[in-house]
Amino acid sequence: MALDLVVVGLGYVGLPLARAACAAGLAVAGVDTSREVVAGLRAGRSHVGDITDAEVAEMLAAGFTATANPAPVGAADTVVICVPTGLVDGEPDLSAVLSAARSVARHLRPGTLVVLESTSFPGTTEEVLAPVLESGGLVAGADFHLAFSPERIDPGNTAFSFRSTPKVVGGLTPVCAKRCAAFYEDLVDTVVVASGLREAETAKLLENSYRLVNIALVDELAVFCAGLGVDVWEVLRCAATKPFGFQPFRPGPGVGGHCIPVDPRYLAARARASALPATMITTALEVTAGMPGYVARRACELLAAERPVAGSSALLVGVAYKADVADVRQTPATSVVRQLRALGVRVAYHDPHVPAFAVDGVPVPAGSGPCDIAVVLQDHAAVDLGEVLRDARCVLDTRGVAEGDNVVRL
Ligand SMILES: NC(=O)c1ccc[n+]([C@@H]2O[C@H](COP(=O)([O-])OP(=O)(O)OC[C@H]3O[C@@H](n4cnc5c(N)ncnc54)[C@H](O)[C@@H]3O)[C@@H](O)[C@H]2O)c1
Repeated sequence: MALDLVVVGLGYVGLPLARAACAAGLAVAGVDTSREVVAGLRAGRSHVGDITDAEVAEMLAAGFTATANPAPVGAADTVVICVPTGLVDGEPDLSAVLSAARSVARHLRPGTLVVLESTSFPGTTEEVLAPVLESGGLVAGADFHLAFSPERIDPGNTAFSFRSTPKVVGGLTPVCAKRCAAFYEDLVDTVVVASGLREAETAKLLENSYRLVNIALVDELAVFCAGLGVDVWEVLRCAATKPFGFQPFRPGPGVGGHCIPVDPRYLAARARASALPATMITTALEVTAGMPGYVARRACELLAAERPVAGSSALLVGVAYKADVADVRQTPATSVVRQLRALGVRVAYHDPHVPAFAVDGVPVPAGSGPCDIAVVLQDHAAVDLGEVLRDARCVLDTRGVAEGDNVVRL
């Protein structure tokens, strides 16, 4: 059967893309090496927060198939690769991109458009992906089209949808870019064509590095203000009234998830490889990585003012890496738990989005009720802070949202 689209990698990025394409009436198949993911989707179960089981059922009803076998690539007009690009020992790990590329290459037909959506450093599509795709003898830009289009999925964001978020595309050749733009124009309201692949790749890394650097700036400002006795939340409230030239960011216990702590390292690694500077990114990574330790230290200072730290109890409120999501990948809560445990603090957590949470293989008990200190790490809309914090002796609020005489803010 002819397919309009095959999505390779059906995770946080690939599944919403497949869903949007199904909703637009395209014939779509998905390939994923995880048999668990494939079996779940076939049974109508979503493993991605922003996609409901009902939406997977709609996709299946529209003809969507999920498989671990990459053969559908041979029947596709367009193949989009959305596999993870993580880190190994802090360095870019393109093993999933390479393995997906090998699977695609085995089935690639002339005339297909291949798009990489996985975030990576400038040069990845042309220097890393293209040679593997060409291993079967087809030439990129001549026999098949090749493009890069970064994903801008923001888990939990209800203000911007897949369709209303502009999509950047870059092509190996102008014809590749045009073909890629035409593909996404059916799925999103605005397509922005970059002058080349590297510009599109770097734009994505700039977006996430911009967030990282600005978060690091306000994190460091929070530490600085606490040391000087200045209320950083008032500083931010006042500065945010400037109607131009200032965009507010808020401090917190550190950054987490799949993107902000990871993607800037791709830019820094590429810079290092070419003996170019990446000072801002490197410093911002250091500042944000220090925040969980700072939060743990502040919590211990508050505890120590009243009782011995060892043996006291702490309740972490919100352990997901950001508000209103269930994702705990690289959450700063992990490091906070580790550091409090090391000082003998009994740690529990409260997070309605996270049914189970373990650190270093040791489960963190879910709890609420009396505790020596509650540490607000995330501001989930679903958490009634007044209720959860009611029986805490004192509260360290890293989000500037809790009220009360016993509340100390970051
Ligand atoms: N999650 C986000 O919010 C987000 C936002 C923007 C960009 N990105 C980027 O998008 C890419 C994908 O991220 P994600 O969050 O969707 O990852 P994910 O881990 O949720 O999903 C990736 C899927 O790919 C599958 N997979 C791994 N290797 C494969 C292979 N060789 N062939 C087929 N399937 C394979 C995995 O089983 C998994 O289901 C990454 O580069 C990430 O940086 C993610």
